[in-house]
Parts: sequence; structure tokens; C-alpha cells
Amino acid sequence: MKQDMIVILDLGSTENTVVAREIRDLGVYSEIHPHDITVEELKALDNVKGIILNGGENRIVDGVAVEIRPELYDLGYPMISIDYPASKCAKRLSELPDKETLKQFIFDECKAEANWNMKNFIEDQVELIRKQVGDKKVLLALSGGVDSSVVAAMLIKAIGKQLVCVHVNHGLMRKNESESVVKIFRDELHANLVYVDATERFLSKLENVADPEQKRKIIGGEFIRVFEEEARKLEGIDFLGQGTIYPDIIESGTKTAKMVKSHHNVGGLPEDLQFELVEPLKQLFKDEVRACGIELGLPHDMVYRQPFPGPGLGVRCLGAITKDRLEAVREADAILREEFAKAGLDKKVWQYFTVVPDFKSVGMKKHERCFEYMVIIRAINTIDAMTATIEKVDWDVLEVITNRILAEVEHVNRVCYDMSPKPPATIEFE
Ligand code: XMP
Repeated sequence: MKQDMIVILDLGSTENTVVAREIRDLGVYSEIHPHDITVEELKALDNVKGIILNGGENRIVDGVAVEIRPELYDLGYPMISIDYPASKCAKRLSELPDKETLKQFIFDECKAEANWNMKNFIEDQVELIRKQVGDKKVLLALSGGVDSSVVAAMLIKAIGKQLVCVHVNHGLMRKNESESVVKIFRDELHANLVYVDATERFLSKLENVADPEQKRKIIGGEFIRVFEEEARKLEGIDFLGQGTIYPDIIESGTKTAKMVKSHHNVGGLPEDLQFELVEPLKQLFKDEVRACGIELGLPHDMVYRQPFPGPGLGVRCLGAITKDRLEAVREADAILREEFAKAGLDKKVWQYFTVVPDFKSVGMKKHERCFEYMVIIRAINTIDAMTATIEKVDWDVLEVITNRILAEVEHVNRVCYDMSPKPPATIEFE
């Protein structure tokens, strides 16, 4: 390990990730660990330079008062406690340790070096991956999303052709999305990539299914089945690559940091397909994942793309999916993205997409009455996807998009803009 580390022990604070971020912003690597970490577990961590006890207002976890193991005090690490005394907690509840105190502790007391950067991180991970995997093979479901793409790039750098990427096209991808995954990973990065076009299989399973949760279940379940079938065709795979990132494993809120997702993520793969996980991004926050992707040479567009739900356009083609409406959502979405990029909105707006409902409205085309679908445009900004506000898109931009959709997308005679914040509306329609 090249990087010094400051360990934050969670004694019930809600601000652990904020403190970790602040320390990383100072150029020093930081990890959050549970309050009951043992001496052995602590010693197993590389390059620990100091420990921060973070108890928030009252050092309570799950309603129970907590302390660290007393032996930890005897290990000789510099320690600082950033609890808020109970008597002052009403006043100081949301206050964080000021930057000067942190700096003094980290650099003067712990003598940590500011050597946390992506280059070092990647070198460390490459070494760790090679050590973990040896000459064995790793399987990775490469969706083309940010996390799986960055994991793929990292694994390609570490083990090259020992990585087998499987890209399942469920037919609900955006326009040219699967093509660009193949182009970047197979053609440019020379990855060992299995491309599975499962479009017809997914669409036939989804036929006449209108309930959103049912649709999600079918898409998720079918995805695992297709992936599993591919995994069974491959020989000698021992590891499964996963795009687990730090927010996935740190429970937000007042509870002690726990492994929440990484083991469930394998999600539904049958018992006899047991893989050991390789999760090289599990210590990174989302923006660090993006920086890592750029450092690994992935294209900016891939690393900075907006969030896209797993069920893809399946939850934007409302109700029971039909091919004509699915095509309409896909084409309208491509136009929206193109025009947002032209207007510079792609760098400003958090998420923007189109939706096609499963009802028609009356219109006129070529002097004749037509009864066709509508496209709804949604563009929102948010910090954490829990609440959202709409982007007040310039009318001229909206008009250009509308005219293009009406001229270029079949079966559509009307375009609407969704004005609803979250809550009460959710970001997606289903
Ligand atoms: P909602 O609609 O709940 O969306 O306001 C919040 C964020 O989550 C995304 N989203 C999903 N992502 N699978 C995903 O991977 C899903 O089933 C799903 N549903 C919603 C949504 O795009 C938004 O960013």
C-alpha cells in the first residue's frame, strides 16, 4: 500500500462519510470502520497513521451506548475524538470538526502524508487484484454503467484477458449504448467480451405485463438467468467482479458502518455458482469512481454519464411494453440527449429522459386526423435522488426538441414537459 490511512471509528455519528470526504479532500486516504473493530482487524489494515473516534452527539448505535474496545487505546496510534458533548448537542448537532483541527491532527500528530491520489490508488488496486486473482479468471457483468465500466477498465489493466466481460443487451438500452460498450471494451481496450443480444427473449417475457414492479422483477430475474447461462458456458472461472462502491457498503444514518450490499449484490446467482468477489472500487465515493475511470483512460462521456436505471427504457415505456412505443422512447431520448448536449445542458442537468405513456391522443398530420402517442420530457436536478427539482429548460431549446421529436419519431403527435418536483412525483414514472 502506498497510501497513509486515517481510520474513522463510527460510534453512532451521522457524519462519518462527511468526515471521510474531508480527510480525502486533504489528500489523505480515510476509511470508516465499526466501533467494535478488534485489535487484529485494525492491525490488518495497511498504513494506519491515526484514529478518529466519531460519536456524533451521544455515542449511540442502534439505541445502545457504545465504546471502542479498550485495548485499542494501548496500540499507540494518535487518536482524536470528535464527539459532541451531550450538553452542547442542541447547538452543535450539525457542526463538524473544523478543518484546522483535522489538519493539525492528520499532519502534525499522525504525520500522515498527503499521498492519496488516483494514480497511487490504481497502482495499489492493480497489485491487490493480481495478488487475489493469481492466474485465475474473473467474470464481470458489464452493463456499460459508470461503475461496471470503471471496474472493467481496472481489471483489464490488472489482468487483461483473464477478465471475461459479459454484456447482456436486454433490448431496453438507449440508442447505440450496447454498440458503444462493444466498441470501447472489445475494439479499443481489447477486452475478452461476450456480447449477448437477448432482446427478443426479454421482450417476449414482458409481453402484456403492465405492472411496474412485475416488469422490474421480470427484467432483473431474466438478467440473472441470461448471465448465469453464459457463466455456465465458461470454464474455470473463480471470481466475480463487482462494481460495488463505498456508499453501497456504508449505511447512511446513525448506524455503525456495515456491509449491506456487497454480498447480496451477486443477487440470485444459484448456490452452485459460487464465486469469490473482486471489488476494487469498494472504497470509492462516486466522484472518485469517475476520477478513477478518467485516469484509466475511459471516455469522458462514459464516466460522466447520467444515472440510468437497471430496467432501462423498460420503465420509461409505460405499462405493457410494445415495440412501437419502445422505439419511440429510444428515438426521442436520443434526440433529447443530442439537443441537451448542444445547449450545454448535459453538464448541468442531473438526469433527463423521455417517457411514452400507453395511451393515445388526437392530432392532425398531413391534413388528416391521427390518434397517436405522446412523449413526455423530464429533466431534474438533485443531490441524492431523494428529492428533486425540475430544470427550467429554456423554451427555445424545448421547442427545438419538440419539433425534432414530432418530425423524426414515428407514432408520436404530442410532446409534454413534466413540471413535477419530487416529492410528490418520483423521478421515474414507474
Ligand atoms: P425514483 O423514480 O425512485 O428514482 O425517484 C430515483 C433514482 O433511481 C433511479 N431508479 C432506478 N435505478 N433500478 C435502478 O437501477 C431501478 O429499478 C430504478 N428505479 C429508479 C432513477 O433513475 C433515479 O435516478
